[in-house]
Amino acid sequence: MRKSALSTLIAASVAAAAVTASTQAFAAYGAGDFFTRIGVAKVEPKGDNGSLTPANLKADVADDSAFAFTLGYRFTDKLGVELLAAEPFDHDFTLGDGAATGSTDHLPPTLTLQYYPLGGTDAHVQPYVGVGVNYTRFSDEKATVTGVGEVDVEFDDSWGAAGQLGVDLLIDDHWALNGAVWYMDIDSDAKVGGDDAGKVEIDPVVVMGGISYRF
Ligand code: NI
Repeated sequence: MRKSALSTLIAASVAAAAVTASTQAFAAYGAGDFFTRIGVAKVEPKGDNGSLTPANLKADVADDSAFAFTLGYRFTDKLGVELLAAEPFDHDFTLGDGAATGSTDHLPPTLTLQYYPLGGTDAHVQPYVGVGVNYTRFSDEKATVTGVGEVDVEFDDSWGAAGQLGVDLLIDDHWALNGAVWYMDIDSDAKVGGDDAGKVEIDPVVVMGGISYRF
């Protein structure tokens, strides 16, 4: 009788542990996860991008979209770190309402420390916020002044703060649908014809949609 009760108890405990374990396995969204998010990101510079001296030419930087991906790690259920990478974005710009037109490539890797309020729970909707730093490197700047021809334009690299909001909609143990936005403070010192010409403020919102995979 006693032995039978004990084995029943053990059997029940093992069954409960198995159920708990499988629930936790499904819910294990948190500590120890490596993850990647893959999608398309659109960089939307803010409306007023500043003016360049000496002629006080208004700068206007256009949107661009490109393939992007992130890599990340969760230290704890609620804290993680994520690096945004992408192929270079190619932005068209105009100066002085079309007096000059040009384009530049830029690469804006962004590292954020993240907080997942529902990390470690079995919620299938997992939002997160992040703060961090953006480094933007400009390359292949080209500009043409109407009626004059090519001018030499250079944008210096930029370091700035970044903020992030995102959400994973869990599909199974590995896959999720993902949406995320970043705000990046990107201000670049510009040179025209080799001379300092002031600051271009891009300060974009970056919107990315795609999928997450964690392992
Ligand atoms: Ni700024």
